[in-house]
Amino acid sequence: MLAIERLSKNFGGVRAVHHVDLRVEPQEIVGLIGPNGSGKSTIVNLVTGVFAPNEGRIRLRDQDIAGWAPHRVLAAGIARTFQNIRLFGNLTVWQNLWVAQNARSQQAEGALSRWLAVGRSRMTQIESTLDFCRLGDKRDELARNLAFGEQRRLELARALAAEPDLLLLDEPAAGMNAAEIDDLRERILGLRRRGKTVVLIEHHMELVMAVADRVAVLNFGEKIAEGNPAAVQDDGRVREAYLGTARRG
Ligand SMILES: Nc1ncnc2c1ncn2[C@@H]1O[C@H](COP(=O)(O)OP(=O)(O)O)[C@@H](O)[C@H]1O
Ligand SMILES: [Mg+2]
Repeated sequence: MLAIERLSKNFGGVRAVHHVDLRVEPQEIVGLIGPNGSGKSTIVNLVTGVFAPNEGRIRLRDQDIAGWAPHRVLAAGIARTFQNIRLFGNLTVWQNLWVAQNARSQQAEGALSRWLAVGRSRMTQIESTLDFCRLGDKRDELARNLAFGEQRRLELARALAAEPDLLLLDEPAAGMNAAEIDDLRERILGLRRRGKTVVLIEHHMELVMAVADRVAVLNFGEKIAEGNPAAVQDDGRVREAYLGTARRG
């Protein structure tokens, strides 16, 4: 579904991402882990068109999407959540989803057909997303009035409203308590049942180990290990990368 090849991005002298290869198969859940500053969010930003790479390719099915504008990447079927929640605080839950849904379809349809087609199928899709993220009873609440865990669920719902095939989740468990993480785990597994493909960037190892089919590890912008979760956890370089971080402070 997604194939990243020799992907590189520099910020001035910083090699944020260096020659990274990564393949993601349809309906796979791939964990992407690594210490702070190892280049995880930069990869999300490169894949979703926030930055153009200095080098390398990003293939989505048979298209090279490297350097595409974000709206075009979204229209091609890739959505993401943000490490720091980004919602329209003064819109309701339902309105946030409505806006997100339009962000994709606007690119795909002309204005007339858009307005004619607005109707049952759109509504149904929003309802099912609300349901899936357990936000049905919050639909008329302003996003800024939601509890933290609910905002996180709305962030996921917002990404889903664009009906992506591939979801990039950038530290979705950040700030969550244990119960919220359990709930998130069920939601991520539910995504796969709905036919989605997921790249999960996460610090909570237990969550990654519980849901990922495969894990790739970054350190200083380079991929240092990849494999099934248990094997990666036992990998000496991976331990060293995390211990090294602890020592660095
Ligand atoms: N927009 C940017 N401008 C300059 N440097 C950046 C920018 N984004 C990320 N970096 C740098 O790139 C490196 C990787 O960052 P990032 O991808 O955010 O890491 P992670 O998500 O793994 O914590 C860090 O050294 C960070 O400071
Ligand atoms: Mg990050």
